[in-house]
Amino acid sequence: MPLLAFETSCDETSAAVIHHGRVLSNVVSSQIAMHAEYGGVVPELAAREHLRNLLPVSERAMAAAEVAPAEIDGFAATQGPGLPSALMVGFHAARAAAFALDRPFVGIHHHEAHLYSPWITGRPLTANFSEFQPNVSLIVSGGHTLLVHVQAELKHRLLGSTLDDAAGECFDKVGKLLGLPYPAGPHIDHLAEKGNPRAFDFPRPMIADSSHDFSFSGLKTSVRYFLRDHPELAEDRERLRDLCASVQAAIVETLVAKTIRAAQVMKVRCITASGGVTCNRALRGGLADACAREELTLRLAEPSLCTDNAAMIGVLAERVLAQRTHLASQYADVLPDWSLGRECSLAR
Ligand code: KG4
Ligand code: ZN
Repeated sequence: MPLLAFETSCDETSAAVIHHGRVLSNVVSSQIAMHAEYGGVVPELAAREHLRNLLPVSERAMAAAEVAPAEIDGFAATQGPGLPSALMVGFHAARAAAFALDRPFVGIHHHEAHLYSPWITGRPLTANFSEFQPNVSLIVSGGHTLLVHVQAELKHRLLGSTLDDAAGECFDKVGKLLGLPYPAGPHIDHLAEKGNPRAFDFPRPMIADSSHDFSFSGLKTSVRYFLRDHPELAEDRERLRDLCASVQAAIVETLVAKTIRAAQVMKVRCITASGGVTCNRALRGGLADACAREELTLRLAEPSLCTDNAAMIGVLAERVLAQRTHLASQYADVLPDWSLGRECSLAR
């Protein structure tokens, strides 16, 4: 019997129906256009939009999966981390539905869902854990840059994270300096396509550091000073492309080098990547080239599953429910600051 999952941690309202690892439906309603007006996500507006959208999105997900509400056998939602008022909408709706229908309910860690999303592939999208290999996983989103050692399915350990800005945040803040709309990542990706990545030399922060941590705020600052010294550049379309390509290269080379190094240190033969920045074509290409050179297997999250979605929440929830060890209590609440921690939440 199928499971209904919700994701409302930030600015996407999403509902998905999962059955035996198969994604029967995955409906995502993005609020990006609304928040773009303000240059970033406004938490109160996000929560209101989730309240408005959750029911229609759920109805569409169940209709697309050809499943009636009474047929839903379990519920799941993102429990954290994320915006408190946004998380509450999906989490408490799923918890209340589970209570009313006397079905099990599980709260999922958002980053753990990203972490296992590269194992969801094919048409129709299906979780393929039979192909699982121990791996080092890069999770890159607007709020987080994480390197995780995944020793076994549902067993993982955080290796490192960003000390300041996340990679996506760096794309977005550089884009803001250039006057690009929010979120700027996809615009920089597009502009960089015809630019020269070697035109300008920006720092590759902590690239040679022996830790698995990242730092991107210095890169953003160096772009700010560069633009202060070359104000004419923002008006010159061709040089703007070169600038985007050069900044993108600095971010991508840092992410790729540190991910490959972590795989070598942890002695794994597989790398996975997920989160919104994994949509970036230079990052996908850079990881593919480096993995081919090092003879490592690479699994990238499908582009449709890189940004926030309920399918990844539901797929992980189904695995957790199958173990029946981590059901959320009737009194559970959201955990907005739930960090991945050095230990796996699933091993609590
Ligand atoms: O995972 P996500 O959808 O939301 C968060 O949990 O933050 O990631 C959003 C981030 C934004 O910073 C956005 O600029 C970035 O992912 N992003 C990209 C691309 N597509 C999305 N960054 C670079 N290139 C892209 N193509
Ligand atoms: Zn995310």
